[in-house]
Amino acid sequence: MKNKVIFDTDPGIDDAMAILFAHASGKIDLLGITTVFGNASIENATRKALYLKQRFAIATTVCVGADTPLVVPAGEPTTFVHGQNGLGDIDLPDTLPLKADPRSACDFIIETVRNNPNEVTLLAVGRLANLALAIQKAPDIADLVKAVVVMGGAFGHNGHTGNVSPYAEANIIGDPHAADLVFTQNWPVTVVGLDVTQQSIMSNAYVQILKDKSEIYGDFIYQISRFYSDFHQQSLGLDGFYVHDSSAVAYVLAPELFKVQQGPIRVVCEGPAMGMTLCKTLEKAFPVDGWQDNPRQQVCTDIDSQGLLDLYFK
Ligand code: BDR
Ligand code: CA
Repeated sequence: MKNKVIFDTDPGIDDAMAILFAHASGKIDLLGITTVFGNASIENATRKALYLKQRFAIATTVCVGADTPLVVPAGEPTTFVHGQNGLGDIDLPDTLPLKADPRSACDFIIETVRNNPNEVTLLAVGRLANLALAIQKAPDIADLVKAVVVMGGAFGHNGHTGNVSPYAEANIIGDPHAADLVFTQNWPVTVVGLDVTQQSIMSNAYVQILKDKSEIYGDFIYQISRFYSDFHQQSLGLDGFYVHDSSAVAYVLAPELFKVQQGPIRVVCEGPAMGMTLCKTLEKAFPVDGWQDNPRQQVCTDIDSQGLLDLYFK
């Protein structure tokens, strides 16, 4: 049976690559794509979700989500990573025949989870505002989701601690209160952070071969990823780019590729360490302990990178 997934996203070059990965796998039933601010404005993110739906004939519902964080002020779209249009500045049509569903992302999540008890995975690869709003409005969905899989955060495994600040990752620092809310709910969360996403690199040669071999997706992935690749080359000296959002899709498709650890997770919500994610693995009780009353969640600590690259290619 296919995995029923609501894909919460801010497309985004790697978001688009991850959506195509989920779609092409044949193993995911994409019940909906819910958009959120982040890599692009909410209007732009939604437009690109609709564009992907149309161009690749993805049978799914697109719903518009949050345009601002829960508490902190909204940051600017990360055009220096994803391009002015958020898709590496490839040509995009000015108008699209497709329209978003009238339901908000939050309401769509609540309704879909209630209608499919214990079957829906919330796969979130952007800021976590939509999930936070949904669980705030309808706490009953905590018992009804199958799983929550999040690309975000960094716990220091494999030397990865942050990409926006020394100790914070983009999706979490962009809306730390939403992330803390999502991680501390009584639903099963798995966090796929920089700890593993920065362990896998799609080299330019890899993308070139994908371009040559995949008739449907290869050229599109090659074109959108040139900007992303240049960003990684200029800022980090990498040949290719990290596999952020597609690693979260891989967790849904093939969790056996990952090593995990368990413990309650909190997010620092202010100060110089804002956006830092911390998983308490100590069993010891402390006199002051902001973790002790929260449920144990899962953090990915290692990945079979070659396995991931092979799976994406396939
Ligand atoms: C995350 O930030 C965004 O730029 C990517 O789409 C990914 O979700 C990585 O830190
Ligand atoms: Ca993303």
